[in-house]
Amino acid sequence: MKYRKFGKTDWQVSSIGCGTWAIGSDWGSQNKEDSTKAIHKAIDLGCNFVDTARAYGAGKSERIIGSVLKERSGERIYLASKIPPLMPGDWPPSPYDLVGDRYSEDHIRSELEKSLRDLGVDCIDLMQIHTWSRAWNKDPRPFEVLRACQREGKIRFIGVSTPEHDQEAVADLMRNGWVDSVQVIYNIFNQEAQSEIFPIAMENQIAVIVRVALDEGALAGKLTAQTKFSEGDMRQNYFAGDRLERTVDRVEEIRKTIGDEEPDLAASALKFVLKPECVSTVIPGIRNERQAELNCAVGKAKPMSDTLEKKLRDHNWRRDFWYSGK
Ligand SMILES: NC(=O)c1ccc[n+]([C@@H]2O[C@H](COP(=O)([O-])OP(=O)(O)OC[C@H]3O[C@@H](n4cnc5c(N)ncnc54)[C@H](OP(=O)(O)O)[C@@H]3O)[C@@H](O)[C@H]2O)c1
Repeated sequence: MKYRKFGKTDWQVSSIGCGTWAIGSDWGSQNKEDSTKAIHKAIDLGCNFVDTARAYGAGKSERIIGSVLKERSGERIYLASKIPPLMPGDWPPSPYDLVGDRYSEDHIRSELEKSLRDLGVDCIDLMQIHTWSRAWNKDPRPFEVLRACQREGKIRFIGVSTPEHDQEAVADLMRNGWVDSVQVIYNIFNQEAQSEIFPIAMENQIAVIVRVALDEGALAGKLTAQTKFSEGDMRQNYFAGDRLERTVDRVEEIRKTIGDEEPDLAASALKFVLKPECVSTVIPGIRNERQAELNCAVGKAKPMSDTLEKKLRDHNWRRDFWYSGK
């Protein structure tokens, strides 16, 4: 496994981290034993960065990670969690939502206490605000609260995860010194972070955590137009209507671009997001031991060539761009 510097901190984090949404909720049935073994396997293979959130099964993902950490005390594993906005409410937040209603001090502190309890630690390495609204940039009070929690020794560093429909909404937070890290969607289909988020991260030494590198599994190359997602798998919605078919067609084009330069698509998707210098770690979702093995292997593999990376830039897909049609 190769390790990279995490922004301004002195941490050296594994280039392949562990994403744990699926082990908490929203991805259909998931067996606790598989989840536990998956995290152990990733750590055995050198992964030292685990990303979770309270929202992943109301602490379920955090509790599973907490029990793994208990068995591995003494090993330095960097833990990142996230504070959700107060629910019920829109996610992403509505433009009319007030920051004080969705991220009040009481709410932040009470969610933080729950995360500390479920993870079984006194201090969380990185606490992220789970989603954000551009409307809140003029009043980033939640980060003042988190800085106070940092001074109290309950968290080490502070981050934000981008709202998927408007990722650049966090640019002001990055420029104005409110965050030590940003968690961003970046993959062969969605390369928008190159325009603003990556340059600001470079300039301000803000750590970048890449999420959804596999486009929720599509860029692993195993979906077909006939794939049926199980009950409770959020991909029934993500790939609803003709989205799955259109995605699969584009994945086949990507496969042609890669040709025989790389042995497999999932590894290529991970290598692609590790190319920008500002990226500290990518956190593919890992829900079983096999995925831990496949993904962690990329952490020691030969990097993708600059030539192939440049060719893959052509597969950037403006999915939300009305004028170009669906
Ligand atoms: N707003 C936010 O802050 C936010 C949002 C989304 C995600 N995240 C974080 O980012 C992490 C990663 O995102 P994600 O899990 O949504 O999506 P992802 O990494 O793009 O896709 C993960 C899925 O791909 C499949 N997979 C993983 N490795 C594979 C491999 N080597 N070969 C074939 N298939 C493989 C698995 O699904 P199957 O086994 O079902 O095929 C896995 O659950 C999350 O777990 C979470 O920690 C944060």
